[in-house]
Amino acid sequence: MPTDADARHVLRNNDLGGYTVPTHGLYPYQWNWDSALVAKGWATFDPPRAWQEVESLLAAQWPNGMVPHIVFRQPDPSYFPGPEVWRAGQGALPTSGISQPPVLASAVRRLVEADPARDLRRLETVYRQLDAWHRWWHDVRDPQNAGLITITHPWESGRDNLPDWDAPLAAVDTSGVGSYQRRDTSHVAAAMRPTQADYDRYIALVQFGRERGWDAKRIVVDSPFLVVDPGVLAILIRAERDLLTIASLVGGDCAAINRRIERLIGGFERLWNPEAKGFCSLDLRTGEHCATANAASFLAAYAGVTAHHRTVMAQFAEWAERVQFMLPSFDPRSPEFDPVRYWRGPVWAFFNYLVAIGLAEVGEREWAERLRADTKRLIGGSWFAEYYDPKSGIACGGQEFSWTAAIWLAWGLGEVADR
Ligand code: DGY
Repeated sequence: MPTDADARHVLRNNDLGGYTVPTHGLYPYQWNWDSALVAKGWATFDPPRAWQEVESLLAAQWPNGMVPHIVFRQPDPSYFPGPEVWRAGQGALPTSGISQPPVLASAVRRLVEADPARDLRRLETVYRQLDAWHRWWHDVRDPQNAGLITITHPWESGRDNLPDWDAPLAAVDTSGVGSYQRRDTSHVAAAMRPTQADYDRYIALVQFGRERGWDAKRIVVDSPFLVVDPGVLAILIRAERDLLTIASLVGGDCAAINRRIERLIGGFERLWNPEAKGFCSLDLRTGEHCATANAASFLAAYAGVTAHHRTVMAQFAEWAERVQFMLPSFDPRSPEFDPVRYWRGPVWAFFNYLVAIGLAEVGEREWAERLRADTKRLIGGSWFAEYYDPKSGIACGGQEFSWTAAIWLAWGLGEVADR
């Protein structure tokens, strides 16, 4: 069984000086939602370092408010596609041209609450940056002005190869992609990573954005991939609620945030798919819901959405009957479920943590505790892996993974004596 000291060691070892890489080799740069979750881990033993993680990510913010999904601080040939492929970065640093699920405001709220002697001027700067990023999602990514926040690349969901993206990705033309060398499969078994056909489409979408100068408004108009992801949406709703708390401390515009939350909840409720008995992704190009729910349906409580709660929890119980370890990332009853292939089935510690927060808040304490216990068993048996097989519990993907170590700390999974 790892100890808290082991988890702290993983974070320190992945610290490149003010920012934490997810893991060496496979992900050698700063990733957006990784950093937000990692800040929660740092906060348990080094709050100034946690603030540094937040501020280093925000240092890459674009003038239009977007906080990019990767910040490329120093060249590293172990990753593809690097800065020379993206040719993006409209702020101070080279970056990718898309964003990622906005967990950051939720991490900041936790930092603020743990720090009674907070520096209000510093917090105000962070608040303005977070507010600008949230407004970017609304202004640029909600083309119907209905709380249906869209993503324009599967990487923007952070859950790259969910079966949800198969149908929308089929519309992406890969004829101009050319040859390139993937790096991920030199670090991790190919069976645990997205397929080559998926990768061609990811790269085609990078080329598509690059040809449009990473003008996000233009991309929304004609991107072949324009999808509402319940994961991004639930995380944004939660982040807006957390931003509201921060706004109340620094004199921010609470009324505007409240209006945004209301619109987002309306959008989330439109993701309900009665046949799938879940909140499902929605392809805005075809108007079709995905026929099967993914694990983000269980983030409804985390977002504060209680509609259909009983139906959602009945599905949760059915999923639990099919696996040894909750929570698989995709419906284990589906033919598309794959227990080791990245986001098509494996369990992710941080996702369990987010779902459990919501479930505990709505009184589903036993299920929240089950998620915690399963996460502890997985890490206990297979160390700080990127993700885990929900049937066998084996470690998958990258190892010595920052966000898994961070969640170990933030969720208090170590023995009390060690903390
Ligand atoms: C990758 O390269 O696998 C990442 O998920 C992109 O963010």
